[in-house]
Amino acid sequence: MKMEKLLIRNASQVVTCSGFAAKKGKEMSDVGVIEDGAVAIMDGRIIHVGTTREVLSVINEDEYSVIDATGKALLPGFVDSHTHFVFAGYREEEFSWRLRGDSYMSIMERGGGIVNTMKATRESSFRNLRDRGYDRLLDMMKMGVTTVEGKSGYGLDLNTELMQLEVMKELDKAVPIDVVTTFLGAHAIPPEYKGKSGNYIDYIIAEVLPVVAEEKLATFCDVFCEKGVFSVEQSERLLRAAEMFGMKPKLHADEIVSLGGAELAAKLNATSADHLLQASDEGIRRLAESNTVATLLPLTAFSLHEPYARGREMIDAGCAVALASDLNPGSCFSCSIPMLIALACIYMKLTPEEAVTALTINGAAAVGRADTIGSLDVGKKADMILLRYPSYKFLPYHIGMNIVEKTIKNGKTYHP
Ligand code: NIG
Ligand code: FE
Repeated sequence: MKMEKLLIRNASQVVTCSGFAAKKGKEMSDVGVIEDGAVAIMDGRIIHVGTTREVLSVINEDEYSVIDATGKALLPGFVDSHTHFVFAGYREEEFSWRLRGDSYMSIMERGGGIVNTMKATRESSFRNLRDRGYDRLLDMMKMGVTTVEGKSGYGLDLNTELMQLEVMKELDKAVPIDVVTTFLGAHAIPPEYKGKSGNYIDYIIAEVLPVVAEEKLATFCDVFCEKGVFSVEQSERLLRAAEMFGMKPKLHADEIVSLGGAELAAKLNATSADHLLQASDEGIRRLAESNTVATLLPLTAFSLHEPYARGREMIDAGCAVALASDLNPGSCFSCSIPMLIALACIYMKLTPEEAVTALTINGAAAVGRADTIGSLDVGKKADMILLRYPSYKFLPYHIGMNIVEKTIKNGKTYHP
């Protein structure tokens, strides 16, 4: 079989983000810029990274398809490590209510919110869920996303939760983007269990987790640990059970109320603790001491008109911070990478370097894949993006604009 070889040369910057684990605190500032850089790829893997001169001295260029990247920056593909991209129906009315002053939680308490999407998702066909999910993944690819995490959590019963996870498994094969699956059965309390959240957790542990595990449908288990949804104790019980079934823990932590979700994530050595708008000082300290990635979702804070997570303080305290979109039909109907980078830099005070790290190697760590993606290191998957501008610094600077010219996935190029 003929080997597929691709050379990208003369990039004004190759931004390597080199590393095989999450970067914490100050390490996040080092994105590893190579000027006049090149990357050689064979069969979807990176085989050389260096200056154009260095790379040309060790390969035979004639064997390669060549992309001249003069005036352009090359970066690792983005990892969107927190999304709810498989769902049916929309909640545009709720958005209007929120504009008029209703809160996210008050809409949820009135039977709207996640349960609203649950109803539409239970009524949806597999095909509809897949087709909508497919469109959303293509949108993400155009903005440079090469790996995405997707959560269930709009079924809240065995069959529909399984259907959501199966849709994601199928899309993982159908679309170039890699899809990492998370079981989020504990996303809300379904009407059948109203007022009985503990019983619902019992049901998930006894009836749903074993099937998800048996069919190998999810890498992670997540929970909406929030006042009025699932308590810290219930979350811990569920996540410990999920670990027995081989699923690593993730948490929706301290999103609306400071409940101790960050502390729980650190205690459980969770892969990530997400949202953290209201994380306490102690929670931030614990995360900094742990291996748990603090995943911040500025589009959600923006959409809910809530204060942003304390990203600057978290990095200064030594946390590993990742950035993700949280795409979902309620709190944040957006997966705009350009906008999320702008918000992270302008409002959470991340530097452009930290934002790049947060969306690449730290995003990879937040989905447990820092060993194979998230940086331009020899041996990793050739997942990368070519920008229309000469520096990664244009990502926050060209506010809200998509400056990705090419998304390269497994060494194959896609044009937005
Ligand atoms: O991450 N907070 C819980 N889950 C989502 C919202 C889901 C929805 O509203 O449909 C979030 O914000
Ligand atoms: Fe979420």
